[in-house]
Amino acid sequence: MVSDIARVLYHESTILSRLDEMAHRITEDYASKEVTVVSILNGSIIFMADLLRRIPLPLQLDSWSVSSYHGTKSRGQIHFRQSQIADVRGRHVLLLDDILDSGLTLQAIKEKLVAESGAASIKSCVLLRKNVQRGVEVEADYVGFDIPNEFVVGYGLDYNERYRNLPFIGVLKEDAIRRHAV
Ligand code: IMP
Ligand code: MG
Repeated sequence: MVSDIARVLYHESTILSRLDEMAHRITEDYASKEVTVVSILNGSIIFMADLLRRIPLPLQLDSWSVSSYHGTKSRGQIHFRQSQIADVRGRHVLLLDDILDSGLTLQAIKEKLVAESGAASIKSCVLLRKNVQRGVEVEADYVGFDIPNEFVVGYGLDYNERYRNLPFIGVLKEDAIRRHAV
C-alpha cells in the first residue's frame, strides 16, 4: 500500500499541528454560538475525529453520506444517501470535508442547507484545497493546506475506496491509479 505512494505531502505530525491552529481559530469564531458540525463521509472521517477533539465547544454533530467522485475525476453529480438531516434551525452550521476540488460537492451541500435547513449561518472547513480552476463559485472558510493539482490519498482520502487508513497524505503513483481503476 505504502509502495503505491509517489511522495508524501504531509506526515501525521504536520497534519496534527495544523489542526491545532485550525481548531483554535474555529473555537474563537464559534465561542458562545450554537454550532452543528456537518461532516461529509467517508472522506472527512479521520480529519473530523482529530479536529473535533481539539474544539472544546458544546457542539452537535451530524454526518452526511454523499458521493460525487468516481476514480480520479469528479462526476459532477452529487448523491445524498440519507433522507433525514439533523434539525439545524437557528444553529450555526460548519461543514467539514476532506478536500475542495471542483467545488461541486460543497456547492450542492450548501444549496441544500440554504434551501431546507433554516440554519443561522453556513461555513465550511476543508483539510485540503486543490489548486485548480473551479467552475463554481464556492470557497472554503477554513483550509488546512493548499495542494497542487494531483491525486492524493490517505488520512481519510481514497482512490476507489483504498488507502483511507494511511496515516499521512501522499500523491498516488500513476501505475497504482491504473492498477486499481474500476
Ligand atoms: P469536488 O466536488 O470536485 O470538490 O470533490 C470533492 C470530493 O472529491 C472530495 O470530498 C473527495 O472525496 C473527492 N476528491 C477530490 N479530489 C481528490 C483527491 O485528490 N483524492 C481523493 N479524493 C478526492
Ligand atoms: Mg469524499
